[in-house]
Amino acid sequence: APVQVKKICCIGAGYVGGPTCAVIALKCPHIQVTIVDLNKARVDAWNSPDFAVPIYEPGLVDVVKQCRGRNLFFSTDVDKAILEADLIFVSVNTPTKKSGVGAGFAADLNYVESATRRIAAVATSSKIVVEKSTVPCRTAESMRTILEANSRPGTRFDILSNPEFLAEGTAIADLFKPDRVLIGSLQTTEGKEACRALADVYANWVPQERILTVGLWSSELSKLAANAMLAQRISSINALSAICEATGANIDEVSHAVGFDSRIGPKFLRASVGFGGSCFQKDILNLVYLSESLHLPQVAAYWRQVVEMNEYQKSRFSKTVVDTLFNTITGKHIAVLGFAFKADTGDTRESAAISLIRDFLSERAFVTIYDPQVSEEQIWQDLSEACPTTPLETIKKQVTIVHSALEACTQKEAIIIATEWKEFLEIDWQTVYANMNRFQGEGHWAWRARVKTVLRHSLSSDIDLNFNIGH
Ligand code: UDX
Ligand code: ADP
Repeated sequence: APVQVKKICCIGAGYVGGPTCAVIALKCPHIQVTIVDLNKARVDAWNSPDFAVPIYEPGLVDVVKQCRGRNLFFSTDVDKAILEADLIFVSVNTPTKKSGVGAGFAADLNYVESATRRIAAVATSSKIVVEKSTVPCRTAESMRTILEANSRPGTRFDILSNPEFLAEGTAIADLFKPDRVLIGSLQTTEGKEACRALADVYANWVPQERILTVGLWSSELSKLAANAMLAQRISSINALSAICEATGANIDEVSHAVGFDSRIGPKFLRASVGFGGSCFQKDILNLVYLSESLHLPQVAAYWRQVVEMNEYQKSRFSKTVVDTLFNTITGKHIAVLGFAFKADTGDTRESAAISLIRDFLSERAFVTIYDPQVSEEQIWQDLSEACPTTPLETIKKQVTIVHSALEACTQKEAIIIATEWKEFLEIDWQTVYANMNRFQGEGHWAWRARVKTVLRHSLSSDIDLNFNIGH
């Protein structure tokens, strides 16, 4: 008989598992969804009476309010949720390996492996196991090996790959109306049946034609390919921004003109100080590692360049700041607006702001940071990790964290916009400008030009910089 999913367990209550399974619960009131995590503090936050959920994502609290306690549950009891479920999402973290074989490139599959082993150890009935975390190609295969080698007689496991394409900051909107849902399975009768069971879950709100079913490895590779191609667009436009700055062309105009070609399209063509986030760099490095293991060095070099261009863009921007401040920033005061890797998230993983601030600190500048969502604790942790040889006490002498953009900008020699938070578009630049520090002997025009250069380079011309010189 065809499998009908009645109970779902999601292992991992993070940026992917949390929003995804909360939306499944919302859209499928007949399915019981339990999201489990080993991290008790995180689970407690999901369960908090005042809905202080552990991740900031527009619209998320609303979804949790509607379903929590109805058919959506958060728990640390991993085993119980595994036992009861027909379908299990594995949505744990897969960071880039820091040591050992493939360090700096390959994904660390430790968490995936231990979650998989837990499923094998605990399950007493057949399960559909869905790989949701972004993982290198053929992870499903090793999950299958682990499950089959450790399963009890009479229990069978069907493995699916169902990569998540949501972007942070728009996760809920993306989940409500996905461009596509991708499900990969073995092309066996059982594999296809499992695939159908998961497709039926999504069919509760996603139109059939947007649910794509493919082979297991195609599904895994498609996720890496999509992220690599998105990141490649940004590196391409950022590479062009370097040419623009050297020639006087305007990157926003170039991007606009190029994006009008219907084959290219206007989205994802915004020059920036470099892409960040937990996915792009990690996935490209996975692709590079995969290409190398397959003895395809030219392919590996091609994709590696996308990451190298991103590193170049970040360091090029730091250099622009130093150049604009007369070739030294030692002892100077710099405001950094935005610390998250993009707007509408509190996530700081691989944020370009971290690299910039690290560069400023190594030049012994004073840095004042403001971000609407990122906690002070998170900022200190990220800066300590970015400057491993500098004690936190020393970092704290150079860095101040404040609670508004205007406060951050007062008496600074430069202002950097590192995250495109909407509220930065509404800043009263006239006031900011009036309260900035001017260098001794620096005339109004020179001052204004300098401020504009730094601002202009940190964000595109969305910001109206037509402030007056004042007196
Ligand atoms: C990305 C993919 O978009 C998503 O499909 C996948 O599931 C996970 O990775 P995410 O990292 O959450 O999502 O955010 P995204 O909007 O893609 O932005 C990534 C980075 O690129 C940000 O630092 C953003 O500022 C930067 N970016 C984006 C640009 O620099 N220019 C652009 O035009 C667009
Ligand atoms: P992502 O962005 O991929 O969602 P996160 O780090 O936000 O990554 O979330 C992954 C979550 O998975 C973390 O909260 C972590 O505690 C949890 N996790 C990792 N391994 C296990 C495991 N074996 N069992 C349960 N939860 C796990």
